[in-house]
Amino acid sequence: MATLKAVRGTRDLLPPETALWNHVEATARAVFARYAFGEIRTPIFESTELFARGVGEETDIVSKEMYTWEDRGRADSVHSESEKARGQSLTLRPENTAGVVRAYIEHKLADTGMLQKLFYIGPQFRRERPQRGRYRQFWQIGAEVLGPAWSGADSPLRDAEVLEMLCTFLNELGVKNWRLELNSVGSSTDRPRYIAALKEALAPVKSQMCEDNQRRAETNPLRVLDSKDPNDQDIINALPKIADFLDEDSRVHFDAVLSALAACNVPYTVNPRLVRGLDYYTRTTFEFTVPDGSGLGTQNALLGGGRYDGLSEILGGPKAPGIGFAIGEDRLILTLQAQATESSPRKLDAYIAPMGIAQNPAALALAQELRAAGLTVEVGDGTFRLKKSFETADKLARRIILLGEDEATTSIFTVKDFATTEQTKIPRTDLADKLRAS
Ligand code: HAM
Repeated sequence: MATLKAVRGTRDLLPPETALWNHVEATARAVFARYAFGEIRTPIFESTELFARGVGEETDIVSKEMYTWEDRGRADSVHSESEKARGQSLTLRPENTAGVVRAYIEHKLADTGMLQKLFYIGPQFRRERPQRGRYRQFWQIGAEVLGPAWSGADSPLRDAEVLEMLCTFLNELGVKNWRLELNSVGSSTDRPRYIAALKEALAPVKSQMCEDNQRRAETNPLRVLDSKDPNDQDIINALPKIADFLDEDSRVHFDAVLSALAACNVPYTVNPRLVRGLDYYTRTTFEFTVPDGSGLGTQNALLGGGRYDGLSEILGGPKAPGIGFAIGEDRLILTLQAQATESSPRKLDAYIAPMGIAQNPAALALAQELRAAGLTVEVGDGTFRLKKSFETADKLARRIILLGEDEATTSIFTVKDFATTEQTKIPRTDLADKLRAS
């Protein structure tokens, strides 16, 4: 019978790699807590309309990459005949900003009058062509800061705070050579003016461009700026720049972000071509990248984000300016693995080898005692031959503790350290301290 495999673009995460995932997530939780963020957990599927309206019908995500299905309600749970007939269109979330803003509206968080600082960790789904660093189920660690304008949600200080937090997070994890690029894509009134100018500038030259860019020039001209096609670069570089279309407020906002970043010593590069592929962005947009060769194949954007001052209203809510980001956790892990100098995971503190099945209960009791003392311990089995115990112990742990009849009666154990090959006798009362010390 053919064996079953994980679906293309999805993958299992196994130990010891999951220890690194947990370390990354624990670091995110610890850092975000210092910046007064709380965790939000939203459902993994939402109504399709949320993403169509929030992320934008014309974006690649919504037009090509969503896992969408018609969810016919069970006869006993649907509310109306028409719902039963129609079914409801549902989608596995391709990103989490729309879901967070929906929750903000649904739970009337605006009524608190407070700034909401929310973070999330969870899987997202996009039907993309799988390759290294690009998966169909991938993980994001993200955060959103939003609230009514009087809560300070639209302040450039928030943009800078979020970027400074990301800088701290990446440094704390030990990510090397990251680069922050940012841009302003203007307000919801600047953007249409810029898009009109882009269309006009593209009209006479688009026939010389690649097929994808010809299509984008029509449907979503901003995406042309993102194009990596080498033949089109000269044309793209000569296109009008968004910076020249910013109104006074957007310009002042962006300058204030840049000076706050400078005050916090956050290094950055302004990239006038950075527009990003989701429709909700206004003003500040940004990406953190790592250089090629950091384990990501050609996918070198570690994370991306920006401001979305109009999203809540697009979703039928009150005015609630906001800013956020999402880190591609899979990519962050690949980067850490590629950049790591020491790749072997930390081994267990000890492996206990009972020498005969009669010693099994005593071995388990000793493991219980050492684990209670905070040590990481694995127990073998009395049926194993000594050679097998040593081989297994050497793979898993830094030391082996032999537990035979003698040891059981004297309570003095023979401990071998694999790194030093030293063998010592240690009384039970000293064992935990000695193992911890070295
Ligand atoms: P995004 O740029 O679509 O933004 O995704 C953010 C990050 O998720 C990317 O920079 C990348 O690291 C990772 N990512 C995206 N697609 C994949 C994939 N197929 N496989 C692996 N990693 C992937 C957003 O999702 C916005 N919601 C970010 C945001 C939050 N903006 C404001 N608030």
